[in-house]
Amino acid sequence: MDARNHLFVIVCGSLVALASAAVFAQVATKDHTTTTRDGVYTSAQAASGKVIYSKTCTVCHLDSLAGGVNEAPALKGKQFLSDWEGKPLRSLFGRIISTMPSDDPGSLSEQETLDVLAFLLEENTCPSGKKPLGPPDALDKIQFVGAK
Ligand code: HEC
Repeated sequence: MDARNHLFVIVCGSLVALASAAVFAQVATKDHTTTTRDGVYTSAQAASGKVIYSKTCTVCHLDSLAGGVNEAPALKGKQFLSDWEGKPLRSLFGRIISTMPSDDPGSLSEQETLDVLAFLLEENTCPSGKKPLGPPDALDKIQFVGAK
């Protein structure tokens, strides 16, 4: 084999290696990053979350989720997204279960918090799916991505 042929073989070999690395990377991302755009709660769950929300959150955050009473911030829209976008859903779950409702923190069970969170996702235009949200540990692997 002369030098030119040799070079040709090396170049082709590297191209094949690069191409397969790219394909592998794509498959890997697809498999491992679940986001809230992937249907991570059911609409039945969001409906029971809405009932809990009306009883325990509306007084400060309002039915519209716009907030404003007792200095409660909005739970959807620009500011809310900039606080939570790209973070694991577990951190939002943790924020709610340990600090909300701010007049009675700790009063929600894990299941109630999951349901309220499903309602918040629905209000942030994340699509529903076939499997209910939970258990809390599973939320480590779901990234929050709100309305675009
Ligand atoms: C008594 C008023 C009050 C009630 C009731 C209340 N909140 Fe809040 N909430 C606040 C205030 C004030 C803040 C911001 C300061 C703080 O964290 O205490 C807040 C912050 C939040 C945040 C963080 C928002 C952000 O952008 O970081 C979330 C999420 C939240 N509340 C969810 C809820 C949910 C869900 C409920 C019902 C289970 C609820 N809150 C009930 C007053 C309230």
